Amino acid sequence: LPSFYTLPSGDRIPSVALGVWRADPGHVGEAVKTALKAGYRHIDGAWIYGNEVEVGKAIRESGVSRDDIWITSKAGLLCLYFHAPEDVEPALDESLARLGTDYLDLYLIHWPVAFKKDQGQKVDHDLTENPYPTWQKLEEMVEKGKVKNIGVSNFNIRRLQNLTANSLKYKPAVNQVELSYWNPQPDLLKWAKENNLLLEAYSPLGSQNKVKETLQVPEVKSIARELGITPAQVVISWHVQRGTVVLPKSVTPSRIVENFHVVPLPQEAFDKLEKAAVSHKPERSVNPDWGVDIWH
Ligand code: A2P
Repeated sequence: LPSFYTLPSGDRIPSVALGVWRADPGHVGEAVKTALKAGYRHIDGAWIYGNEVEVGKAIRESGVSRDDIWITSKAGLLCLYFHAPEDVEPALDESLARLGTDYLDLYLIHWPVAFKKDQGQKVDHDLTENPYPTWQKLEEMVEKGKVKNIGVSNFNIRRLQNLTANSLKYKPAVNQVELSYWNPQPDLLKWAKENNLLLEAYSPLGSQNKVKETLQVPEVKSIARELGITPAQVVISWHVQRGTVVLPKSVTPSRIVENFHVVPLPQEAFDKLEKAAVSHKPERSVNPDWGVDIWH
């Protein structure tokens, strides 16, 4: 299985990352250190997770050089409240300061939905339907050297087509979305491959309350037995074999180590799991109620 993918910039993004959403303060630093020791070189965070200071400190204390670690963040700004073009650079600067670094490897528009400034959760429909002005600011951040690659998160095909219909200086290098056994999004994955867009799988194990169920899927269990690996390793390997980056979250040392060891699944086993995943009705674990159907 690929240990990295090459982005249009030529940069190589490691295929397995430690995800730090819901990794609580007081735990996330240790998780990052354990991961780096286990061989991870990719940490996926965001301004909104509220743990960038601890993540940055752990990276500096890990002894691994900054240049050897891929750091992704998602805009505090481009997360709902700070979506406006003029908010891009200040919000990015805040993430850089919190992380204690002078560049990010990847910076994402966290959600396609923008709220009107200082008006609670009122959707700004113009900015939501036309993210191009915000995207141009992100392109400027690349030119300034503050970020090396830019992308989006939680965009569906319609929103991707809408954004890329503009003549972009830099196309989105990745789209980070929920991908799991319960929500495998085969159409989006196909579209992404045809359009040279890398997908990144968040909540790859099913996120929180669905993880147990994922690890008990009969196909997952039988492949694990067959290969002598754990059910989590089967699912994480399946994601990489589908051609996506995978971002399992854990703060448990043994699981962090376990999740890093991906192996190729025999074609027959892969096909069996893929077929099972795409044959049931998809279920999203994330369904924010912001008064706009973000998935359409
Ligand atoms: P914890 O962080 O307490 O170890 P996802 O990445 O799909 O959002 O799933 C994250 C959840 O799955 C967390 O609750 C995490 O628990 C749990 N988890 C992560 N890795 C494993 C694993 N290898 N086996 C079982 N549960 C896991």
